[in-house]
Amino acid sequence: QSPCGPIIHGLEDVLIKNTSISDIDGDKGILWYRGYRIEDLAQHSTYEEVSYLILYGKLPTKKDFEDYVSRLRKNRDLRPETIEVIRNLAKAHPMFALEAAVAAEGAYDEDNHKLAEALRLGRYKAEEKELAYKIAEKLVAKMPTIVAYHYRLSRNLDIVKPREDLSHSANFLYMMFGKEPDPLAVRGIDLYLMLHADHEVPASTFTAHVVASTLSDLYSAVAAAVAALKGPLHGGANEMAVRSYLEIGDPSKARDVVEAATKPGGPKLMGVGHRVYKAYDPRAKIFREFSKNYVAKFGDPKNLYAIASAIEHEVLNHPYFQQRRLYPNVDFWSGIAFYYMGVPYEYFTPIFAVSRVVGWVAHILEYWENNRIFRPRACYVGPHDLQYVPIEQR
Ligand code: SDX
Repeated sequence: QSPCGPIIHGLEDVLIKNTSISDIDGDKGILWYRGYRIEDLAQHSTYEEVSYLILYGKLPTKKDFEDYVSRLRKNRDLRPETIEVIRNLAKAHPMFALEAAVAAEGAYDEDNHKLAEALRLGRYKAEEKELAYKIAEKLVAKMPTIVAYHYRLSRNLDIVKPREDLSHSANFLYMMFGKEPDPLAVRGIDLYLMLHADHEVPASTFTAHVVASTLSDLYSAVAAAVAALKGPLHGGANEMAVRSYLEIGDPSKARDVVEAATKPGGPKLMGVGHRVYKAYDPRAKIFREFSKNYVAKFGDPKNLYAIASAIEHEVLNHPYFQQRRLYPNVDFWSGIAFYYMGVPYEYFTPIFAVSRVVGWVAHILEYWENNRIFRPRACYVGPHDLQYVPIEQR
């Protein structure tokens, strides 16, 4: 409470706009993209098609889809200046390189400056919207390349140029590992990208809105969203979840780890709990199934699936978590298959950004239809009109 009125801590349940991009039923654990349940999309679609759906608001006709995919595939490579930025940050955590590379790509994109100038002059009509969608598609196409190039350069490997004959997910794995990927690994990555593509307005998407609302530019808004996603309470939880399973090492220790998380100030369980879901995250259910199939085929040498299952069992049966309606979220299971595919865990959150970029840009374009700069207030509780005292007398 404050003298000025109610403080909404963390903006919990504050509505910032109407949206038709995605909807979440937190009580029942349901997620829709443009009206389609994610279970149906996960089963029948691909990230290329889901990204079109999220960006353009409808499933594409065969012609529209082929044109879209061909534009994405032609736009995958990066400017030399951007590759230099990634090279200079090759020894840093990939999220820092991703943030910097997105900004660098935007710094030299003429389309970006043309749009920013039009917005500044108050023009956002058909021509500007077309430019905005063109830039949005470039961002979707280039994120995998930035992450893959960083992976290669961080290990002193030559970068592997994108191939136009491979799908978004297959090409990403090809650029990472330099060989045609296993179909199950492609399915795993594609499923992951589909299920992370949008989620209404979490911290990173809200950040993108704030930056876009000042009429900065699309690349800068995405770079800022990457910065927000890096945090362990948000996108960074998938990396932390797998690191904690590796640390635990044995399923028999799950009970103590879960117990420790219930103590005031104790270490939160990564991949558990959610601001909106007060039921099992539907994305986590799909990843639990995929991880089970993956370890059934390739084994569970580090016991990751067994440990996660033991933790899940404890969480689902512990009063502390039940009273607070805390369940596994999208990050609880998603890292296991990645880890076994050979994706280092510091690349889990960058891959989250590779997926969510389409949600970020779709929300920005939606908000620009009725833009208003974000400018909340704070309640001042300090003193006023103090007398300045020279330093000698303090
Ligand atoms: C993502 O918003 C989105 O949609 C995000 C995301 C997306 O698609 O963009 O879904 C992706 O970020 C998933 C969440 C990944 N983060 C984690 O897994 C980190 C661990 N989770 C927690 O930090 C937490 O649950 C949050 C950050 C996810 C939600 O935080 P809230 O809504 O601010 O909840 P809270 O901190 O107020 O917790 C309520 C209570 C507290 O206990 P009390 O003070 O009431 O006694 O639940 C406890 C918290 O201590 N709690 C946990 C816990 N999460 C909440 N206790 C132990 N372990 C946890 N993981």
